[in-house]
Amino acid sequence: MSDLAAIVLAAGGGTRMHSSLPKVLHRLAGRPMIDHVLATLEQLGVTDLVVVTGAGADQVESILGGRVGTVRQEPQRGTADAAAVGMQSISADARQVLVTMGDVPLLPAALLEGLAGAQAADQRTVVSLLSARMADPTGYGRVVRGADGSLLRIVEESDADAATRTIEEVNVGTYCFDAAWLRNNLGRVPVSASGELYLTDLVGIAVADGRGVAVVRAPDPEVALGVNDRVGLAVAERWLRRQIAERHMRGGVTIVDPDSTFIDIGVEIGLDVRIEPWTIVAGATVIGPGAVIGPHAQVHASRIGARSRVWSSVVEESSVDEEVQIGPFAHLRPGCQIGARSRIGNFAELKRASLGADAQVHHFGYLGDAVLGERVNIGAGAVTANFDGTTKHRTIIGDDAFIGVDTMLRAPITVGPGARTGAGAVVTRDVAPGSTVVGMPARPIELRRHRASGDDA
Ligand code: UD1
Ligand code: CA
Repeated sequence: MSDLAAIVLAAGGGTRMHSSLPKVLHRLAGRPMIDHVLATLEQLGVTDLVVVTGAGADQVESILGGRVGTVRQEPQRGTADAAAVGMQSISADARQVLVTMGDVPLLPAALLEGLAGAQAADQRTVVSLLSARMADPTGYGRVVRGADGSLLRIVEESDADAATRTIEEVNVGTYCFDAAWLRNNLGRVPVSASGELYLTDLVGIAVADGRGVAVVRAPDPEVALGVNDRVGLAVAERWLRRQIAERHMRGGVTIVDPDSTFIDIGVEIGLDVRIEPWTIVAGATVIGPGAVIGPHAQVHASRIGARSRVWSSVVEESSVDEEVQIGPFAHLRPGCQIGARSRIGNFAELKRASLGADAQVHHFGYLGDAVLGERVNIGAGAVTANFDGTTKHRTIIGDDAFIGVDTMLRAPITVGPGARTGAGAVVTRDVAPGSTVVGMPARPIELRRHRASGDDA
């Protein structure tokens, strides 16, 4: 739809949020609200697109990061003024202009497409608008119709008398205009009692001029929600989460309890994954087929391999290969890489640790800035002392090494392949491949035996 342009209004102060963050940057299912609106317009294939910014413009523009054109409305004199500012950036070739609100994030693309279709269907129709029937219409503009049911105008709640306030059909705040008509008529919008210029007044103007106005009714009022405060934000969040869960369930994912499962919008989940209750899967996480996540798991921006299991644990910005077991009560901090079939158990904390395949970290302990080979076994209580107070140092542990319980590895240090450390060893020097060190500081076990027998070799 190359002759369809769009303006997203996002300049308002969002005062009802009581926030230092601009309203459209508040997150829904892990993404700023405005990104949901932009994703919908992208689905429609709209490329001639501008976001009108104003309050918190620097913050909004930095999040948009040049992905979409923006124009500033200063000061914010109402939605008609915002649309007029937006029109300055819309190409003269555009035939139709969708105007939509940055705080109405749940509209499906099909409804916007219907709106554009309704406007284009009849030459006389200069605007189509989306309405919804709300059980509680408080806060919305009301759709006022004549005795014959034809549309007369939109009345904002602040201007509505008691009878008008009982009207349950509300203005969703999304319109499709004939571009030329919009350009020519924005200047006719009067200043309202509140001192603002209301875009909604264009509807009454079109009707008074005898031009056609089409109304498209949203079949599901929940998608029409306008987020004005944090109560609305939570309602939108809940609805969106449910949609995300249902999409995954229909695609072959078992979600035992959708009500206690929180999956961000960008998450990818393979077939036959099972998500147990009280679980959060956030960011750009990818979960491989057959994995089991939860109960009580948090996975943030990570990759979990096929048939792996994460339960009662936190995994952040890490990559886990297939058939790995994590938890209960493990914490993978950012930058971990876990090889296939490894086991990470109770109270193990890992940070920027890379484990080869079949590594075992069954018990409490800390591995930071560590590179482990394959089949390494880490005993209970083993710790990499990676920080000397100024700098982080690396620990390298070769294939098949066996780190005894309560071993302290003072980094930087290398433990060779097949080497062993005794219980309670404090390892301050590199350990040769295949050797065993014990004690504090740890020494090769043969040397200690010689010393003990008085043979000072
Ligand atoms: C608006 C509509 C109302 C509709 C409701 C749907 C008007 C006058 N009213 O009311 O009929 O039922 O949305 O959710 O249009 N904005 C600007 N510049 C401004 C003022 C606002 O860009 O000067 C932006 C805001 O950032 C926001 C959107 O326009 O994204 C709507 O503004 P808001 O103040 O939330 O309007 P509502 O009272 O919700
Ligand atoms: Ca609003």
